[in-house]
Amino acid sequence: MNNNKLLIIANWKCNPSTQKEAEHLFTAVKKEIRKIDKTEVVICPPFIYLPLFKQKRKNARQSNTIQLGAQNCFWENKGAYTGEISPSMLKDSGCKYIIIGHSERRSYFNEADNDINKKIKAVLKNQMKPIFCVGEKDRDSFDSEGKSINEMSLIISEQIEKGLAEISQSRISSVIIAYEPIWAIGTGIPCLPDDAMKAALLIKKTLTGLYNRSIAERVKILYGGSVISQNAIDYIKGANMDGLLIGGSSLNASEFIKIINRVIL
Ligand code: PGA
Repeated sequence: MNNNKLLIIANWKCNPSTQKEAEHLFTAVKKEIRKIDKTEVVICPPFIYLPLFKQKRKNARQSNTIQLGAQNCFWENKGAYTGEISPSMLKDSGCKYIIIGHSERRSYFNEADNDINKKIKAVLKNQMKPIFCVGEKDRDSFDSEGKSINEMSLIISEQIEKGLAEISQSRISSVIIAYEPIWAIGTGIPCLPDDAMKAALLIKKTLTGLYNRSIAERVKILYGGSVISQNAIDYIKGANMDGLLIGGSSLNASEFIKIINRVIL
């Protein structure tokens, strides 16, 4: 694992449906998080709740314990782009992280590698950290040996090469890569920790090819896909991941806190 802080990211997706519920969830999580030095907890709510949470963080005495993130952004900071939210707006709303290239954005909103690359660059340019998601669609690509594993590795290395195109050595250490096998997202079928570790090694190998080994070692790699309190530790201790990207389980404050308390350093 990368020596720095462990990262626990909550991806709320398009939930909850009212501000009252969102406030309740945020407050419940914030209340339970004690001062932790070596773990960073990041809540990525829908855009519209960010200014409120920014205010709540400011009012809290332990404001450094929860960071804010967004789930997507546009690549320009302003202009005639109806319906878009820019990196500078998100920075102004208190975000330190932005999830880029989540598989739901790739599949439901046709985000291509080229769009993802522009977004990653825009996030970096605005001094925030992109959480760049990669992962294969088909579970079989992990189950069998030889050909299938090669297919998985091809998909992941291609996503990384295209997503990180023209990103310099000096900026790459601000990028966080989340390995999220699509078949494990929201299905209750988590990836085996051993397989997640293989994917992390492959990501490092691809980064070594693009940059060099010591840079590759510095990039944080997270696991995401059906993480619950019972399996979270297997990815941190067993698979040596630098953190977790958590969807469904982050919508339940007590389950999310349980995950944090189990993996905390
Ligand atoms: P999940 O989602 O934890 O609900 O599987 C993870 C994600 O999509 O980031």
